[in-house]
Amino acid sequence: MDKNTLKGRSLLTWLDYSEEEIRYFLDLSKQVKEEKKRGELHQRFTGKTIALLFEKRSTRTRCAFETSIGEEGGHPVFLSTADIQLGEKESVEDTSRVLGRMFSAIQFRGFKQSTVETLAKFSGVPVYNGLTDNFHPTQVLADIMTIEENFGSSRGKKLCFVGDGRNNVARSLMVICAKLGVHFTIVTPPALMPDPALVKTCETLAAAAGSKILITADTAAVEGAHALYTDVWASMGEEAVKAERVKQLSPFQVNQDLMAKTGLKETIFLHCLPAIRGEEVTAAVIDGNQTRVWDEAENRKHTIKAIMLGTLGLA
Ligand code: CP
Ligand code: NVA
Repeated sequence: MDKNTLKGRSLLTWLDYSEEEIRYFLDLSKQVKEEKKRGELHQRFTGKTIALLFEKRSTRTRCAFETSIGEEGGHPVFLSTADIQLGEKESVEDTSRVLGRMFSAIQFRGFKQSTVETLAKFSGVPVYNGLTDNFHPTQVLADIMTIEENFGSSRGKKLCFVGDGRNNVARSLMVICAKLGVHFTIVTPPALMPDPALVKTCETLAAAAGSKILITADTAAVEGAHALYTDVWASMGEEAVKAERVKQLSPFQVNQDLMAKTGLKETIFLHCLPAIRGEEVTAAVIDGNQTRVWDEAENRKHTIKAIMLGTLGLA
């Protein structure tokens, strides 16, 4: 693959990338992780800057961007809605134009997918989606990396997401699995199934890549899953519907019984974090020997570094 095709690109959703390009980011993520483990020091972001825009809170995503660019000579600037006028007293278009004149790249975490799209359209620099209501693409690259670390490869493996099937993480997992030929199942109640248009798109992509997408309310569908994945029952911005979600999703808690239903001893447990023990996952599972959530969280940093290196033309 010609890595120059990545230079200057934004990452808003993995729908915009080919299998080969995603593969490139995964290989680069593994490379930067190994460099780090060997204690190598690099300064590839010297002279580069990134604006980190946050409408919603974050631990992992913010820290992954700040530390990975900062440790290699780049400079991150954190801007929350308490700091800037994003779409309030200044249009998103104007903020985009101005940030594009001062920064090498922009990260946005917030509500609307249209905001991150506008930033990409008007800034003229790579824009990274650090989570919107619709997608969380940087997360799922780390998730696939974690699966590959445990099973050698991801193609043909089965990942099963159990929980709110319409949320940003479930939707992003569906897209990346479809692109990479990973079998992907969502187990969720009928009221929380993902939007049929996106499912259809992913089914077509998955068929081309040799995998299957299944959306079901039947927990028996976890059988054969190499990884069981869950996320909070109410995402950021959905606090008002929390009680209803608890009612809808309680039968879908990831506990030891559900882990056993995969029928595989080697099944790993994944969660994007933050997690609420006793709700979507029991402590016995997230703190047990099948959990890989801490590796997964660490991999956020390596994958985000790889995404920035690739799209800034520094790899
Ligand atoms: N998984 C994830 O995005 O974590 P943060 O919300 O802490 O960034
Ligand atoms: N679905 C969760 C993911 C948090 C990383 C949320 O949007 O709050």
